[in-house]
Amino acid sequence: KKFCLDLTVVSVSKINDRYVLIKLTHNEELPQMEPGQFVEVRVDGSPTTFLRRPISINFVDRKNNQLWLLVATVGDGTHKMAQLKEGEILNCVLPLGKSFTMPQQPQEKYLLVGGGVGTAPMLYLGEQLKKMGCTPTFLLGARSQKDLLELEYFEPLGRLFVTTEDGTAGEKGFVTNHSILQNETFDRICVCGPTPMMKAVAQYARQNNIECEVSLENMMACGVGACLCCVEKTTEGNLCVCTDGPVFNIKQLLW
Ligand code: FES
Repeated sequence: KKFCLDLTVVSVSKINDRYVLIKLTHNEELPQMEPGQFVEVRVDGSPTTFLRRPISINFVDRKNNQLWLLVATVGDGTHKMAQLKEGEILNCVLPLGKSFTMPQQPQEKYLLVGGGVGTAPMLYLGEQLKKMGCTPTFLLGARSQKDLLELEYFEPLGRLFVTTEDGTAGEKGFVTNHSILQNETFDRICVCGPTPMMKAVAQYARQNNIECEVSLENMMACGVGACLCCVEKTTEGNLCVCTDGPVFNIKQLLW
């Protein structure tokens, strides 16, 4: 079930020059949301037009009844979101899309790989896994140390490894070069990040026969399967990333 809610801004904090963390709340209990799902945020333009932007669910803080959105300020809409003030209203349609597959048994070994803003859904996924008794391993990649996001929130949830392209934190290089992939094996990998990174991780998973799900970031507009601007060609034909995804098993993809 989807809801269209006027959420209240609790805080907007700048994480670095590109990212802000927006915490939202509601006067009623927030609906059920699964890791990997997203929300469509209404960003007002002129009085007569508005657009909705898809933003993945970064975290749901049940104790404080908060929804967290990690937003990369890349265009007009997201810049407007970054300027929101405490107490202002943000209209959101939620939850949308399919989530990551959760474990059948707590012993399952999950590797959660995030790159750039693709780190966002991994926090909520990691927390939900931990709640089920399954300790996740995180592998987060970024260009440089200052681009690594929310490490302090990831740390308590499981084992945390990082890579940076310039070697300023963790191992130098890309996530796919990290030694954890050579030294350990996993039952399932969940990935979100830039497409070349997701493709490289998918290839690793294929070669090693590991179940792997990726969260695609195709252009989206309507978010509800109506405009077809998010279509991905798959082994099952053309699928809408917004309704059939954004999470896909790599077996479905023509990568
Ligand atoms: Fe419109 Fe997916 S965003 S169909």
